[in-house]
Order: sequence, then structure tokens, then C-alpha cells
Amino acid sequence: MDADAVTRTYRRWAPIYDATFGRVTSPGRRRATAHVNASGGRVLEVGVGTGLALGHYGEGVEVTGIDFSEEMLALARDRVSAQGLSRVGGLRQMDARTLDFPDDSFDVVVAMYLISVVPEPQRVLAEMARVCKPEGEIVIVNHFAAETGPLNRLERFMGPFADRMGWHSDFEISTVLESGHVEEVAREGLAPLGLFTFLRLRPVKAAA
Ligand SMILES: C[S@@+](CC[C@H](N)C(=O)[O-])C[C@H]1O[C@@H](n2cnc3c(N)ncnc32)[C@H](O)[C@@H]1O
Repeated sequence: MDADAVTRTYRRWAPIYDATFGRVTSPGRRRATAHVNASGGRVLEVGVGTGLALGHYGEGVEVTGIDFSEEMLALARDRVSAQGLSRVGGLRQMDARTLDFPDDSFDVVVAMYLISVVPEPQRVLAEMARVCKPEGEIVIVNHFAAETGPLNRLERFMGPFADRMGWHSDFEISTVLESGHVEEVAREGLAPLGLFTFLRLRPVKAAA
């Protein structure tokens, strides 16, 4: 998807997101935030969307959220004020390809259901690795393409409709793991039906 397609598609998604895709994908947000809460620290949520995860962060976490879509962010801001979410330090409109933070700023960088949406995922992974502390962690939750079987055929069929749907259904996990910007620490399949994957990654720092 290019940046214009992201803007158009998520303007359309924003009013119905929480009740549709947002609902099905709740287990992944619960899993990722439980993991983040165990270590705490400064957290960056890239592609924070309507802020569905923001209420799940616990004590000892200070979270900053960024998103490209003004409409999705507006809903996240409403949620923060309505629920008085004091752990949210800021919500900013930003492109994940050019994160406006210094190197090594965050203990954890989280991206839930983002990496198969962004234009230039490799560039986004490089940026996530750059702003993550060397001893920190990158956490990704996403659907990755099945390797074989009927689901794989359906995903390939849906691939060309990415701009309309708002994500690439045929996005391969190798795009992340072979990017050179991260190293795998652990992976788990998530409900429903193992359709989503929870990935813990170590940042690989670019040579100076
Ligand atoms: C499927 S939604 C996921 C939202 C949220 N993480 C969640 O768990 O519900 C994908 C989000 O990625 C955002 N996005 C897409 N491209 C982006 C980019 N280049 N930079 C920042 N956010 C982006 C979209 O605006 C949208 O809010």
C-alpha cells in the first residue's frame, strides 16, 4: 500500500474498526501488552490506530503512540481522555518510515497488525530497530501468509485487493525475519485458530 492508500483506507475503517477487525484481533493485543508489562519501561507503539491496546498497559510503562492516519489517531485521543489513561505520554501523527525520535529511545517497540499495512516494511523495521535500545525488544503481532493449503490460496487471491482491505493478506514472515534489522527471540501462534503470530525480536543495530 502507498501512503495515499493508507490515508484513504483508514479514513474509511476508523468509524467501524473497533467493532470489526479490532474485535477479532483482541487476543494479540492482550498477549503483547502482557509481555510488555512484565518488563515495563519506555514503550513506543507504532501504528497505534484507535488505541485499542492503550488501556492494557500496566504500571511501570510509559507509552508513546504514533500513527499515519489522523482519523484513527483522533479516536485514540478520545479514548485516552475518556478513560484517563495516564500511562500514555503522547500520541503523534507520524510516518513509521521516518520516526521522529533519536536512536535508542525506547525499551520496547511494539507494532500490532501494522507490518503488513505499511508501505516499505523493511524501512519501517530499520526505523523500529534504530529507536529501540540495543538491549531492548521489538514486539510484532501480525497475520503472516500460510505456507501451503487452502488458506495460502485464499491469501494469494486476496493479495491484489490490499489497497481496498487495508493490509496485505499474503505478507510473508520472511520479510521480517530476513530483513537484517531484527533477530528472532521467540514466536507463538495466537487465537483465533493460530491465524496471528506473536513475535519477539532483538534489534540489529546499523553499523555507524
Ligand atoms: C490494522 S491497523 C492496526 C491498529 C492498531 N495497532 C491495532 O492493534 O488495532 C493498522 C494501522 O497502521 C497505520 N499505518 C499504516 N501505515 C503507517 C505508516 N506508514 N506509519 C504509521 N502508521 C501507519 C494505519 O493508519 C492503521 O491505524
